Amino acid sequence: MKIGIPKEIKNNENRVGMTPAGVLELTKRGHEVYVQSTAGEGSGFDDEDYYVAGAKILPTIDRVYDQAQMIVKVKEPIQQEYELIKEDQVVFTFFHFASDKRLTEAMMKTKSVCIAYETVEDKDGTLPLLTPMSEVAGRMAIQQGAKYLEKPVKGKGLLLGGVPGVRPGKVLVIGAGTVGIQAAKMAAGLGAQVTILDVNMNKLRYVNDVMPSHVVTEFSNEYNIRKHIKTSDLIIGGVLITGAKAPKLITRDMLKEMQPGAVIVDVAVDQGGCFETTRPTTHEDPAYIIDDVVHYCVANMPGAVPHTSTVALTNVTLPYVLKLADEGWEKACRDDDSLMKGVNIVKGRVVCEPILEAFGWKEAMA
Ligand SMILES: NC(=O)c1ccc[n+]([C@@H]2O[C@H](COP(=O)([O-])OP(=O)(O)OC[C@H]3O[C@@H](n4cnc5c(N)ncnc54)[C@H](O)[C@@H]3O)[C@@H](O)[C@H]2O)c1
Repeated sequence: MKIGIPKEIKNNENRVGMTPAGVLELTKRGHEVYVQSTAGEGSGFDDEDYYVAGAKILPTIDRVYDQAQMIVKVKEPIQQEYELIKEDQVVFTFFHFASDKRLTEAMMKTKSVCIAYETVEDKDGTLPLLTPMSEVAGRMAIQQGAKYLEKPVKGKGLLLGGVPGVRPGKVLVIGAGTVGIQAAKMAAGLGAQVTILDVNMNKLRYVNDVMPSHVVTEFSNEYNIRKHIKTSDLIIGGVLITGAKAPKLITRDMLKEMQPGAVIVDVAVDQGGCFETTRPTTHEDPAYIIDDVVHYCVANMPGAVPHTSTVALTNVTLPYVLKLADEGWEKACRDDDSLMKGVNIVKGRVVCEPILEAFGWKEAMA
């Protein structure tokens, strides 16, 4: 199969859909890979790396779309790319169709086959192509939180790990899912005192089994949250209720009970945030202060570490890319239930229920 890797053109997106390691796996199997010149630059891979792995380097995005039977990328296509997508071309990327009617209609018009990373789903309900981004964000939350505790950025002036003779910071992690566990692990590694809350006892049992003894688990309820925010230096929001907006677990009035200069990092900002005072920020201007509490609420945290994020993402997308290339999309999806869940639009027809529901098209078809 001919596979195209275009350069991402969405603002501030430095990830790329495939690493040279992926190109090598594909070319070894006899596939042809067309990489747009400088596509990997933002992630630390140059054209030479791709060329050595067996790719053909093309100078323009148009040539990549023109050559390829399958496009592998990271972000949803933006308007300039709509025209480039051809009938029957497979496009494997993040789409998030349910929140973008214009994109959905544009992709229907192309008559391409759109397979979305975010809806590829394992039997146990986990989303294997989203997990690595939560892992990155969870670990980064502590790195950023520790930085914003510093005085020059209006934090309380506390070193998260402490030093001999001085107490370390207290970290409260709300949600013991992928984000929460990675955050707790990083905080514990720095020597902080960590409390992690969840409503799912199995998650708490797991954390209790695998974490060191300075990571304490407690059930998530208003009483425990109110108790802990009074003494926490850093609070991480990592809550998710699938398909719903995040619950507001720390309200505006509760901020007054927190210590001046304490920091909250709301990783769940992309689902509306789990703090009432959360509003999405960007890497250009990541933090703001309300009632003396520093808020860090970047909606695309992995974007700041494109090398790590690209490798983490492509580690999990590559097995699916190989299947799609080896077997063609129809057989690959028929044989793999997880991948089948990723199929969103086929040649002009939306085949993914939540998208139909989001736009009220299900009723229209009934
Ligand atoms: N900002 C970013 O750049 C970024 C990056 C990746 C993920 N995220 C977001 O981070 C959030 C968490 O993702 P995840 O992969 O860890 O999800 P996950 O499903 O693995 O974990 C969510 C956890 O929240 C728990 N939970 C639900 N209600 C709760 C409550 N009231 N109190 C405490 N815990 C509760 C669940 O039991 C679950 O363990 C999501 O909204 C995700 O979209 C943001």
